Amino acid sequence: MFEDKNYHSLPPEEFWSALTNDMEHLLSSEDATITTLANSAALLWQALDQINWVGYYLYDGDRLALGPFNGKPACTTIPLGSGVCGTAAIKKEVVVVDDVLSFPGHIACDAASRSEIVLPIIIGNELFGVLDIDSPVVSRFQPGDASGLTRIVEIIASKIVRPNVLL
Ligand code: SME
Repeated sequence: MFEDKNYHSLPPEEFWSALTNDMEHLLSSEDATITTLANSAALLWQALDQINWVGYYLYDGDRLALGPFNGKPACTTIPLGSGVCGTAAIKKEVVVVDDVLSFPGHIACDAASRSEIVLPIIIGNELFGVLDIDSPVVSRFQPGDASGLTRIVEIIASKIVRPNVLL
């Protein structure tokens, strides 16, 4: 599908335009939610350079539980308010951490991670979960990434029409 696309060589404006376009075409509201989460994580893994983890933590009504991802095995549950993910989830705000070593409470699933961005996913005014992306490079995520990924998360959220992940 997008296997041969070399996203990494595109200048930023073309990159975000290609990625939003491809994400829109890859995902369908007909698919099960877990399918949407799995394939969107895979496309982000393919498209974003200098990252070592991308995936979801899903809100189960109590805490965040590990969802579909690409990268090394990760922490399975995160309390709301803990770490970068739990902070973004409780505040319902995008959190960018330039250097995880100076973020109090950062949860280190992989010691190689040095910077991180977490975007809340809100569906029908309710917290659904977060998209978490880690990088081995300090300050990997710039304002352009936050705005581009906010648009990507809007597309992903718009395709999730059933709260049960298997439906
Ligand atoms: N670093 C995250 C935990 C999840 S892993 O990065 C995959 C945090 O502090 O919430």
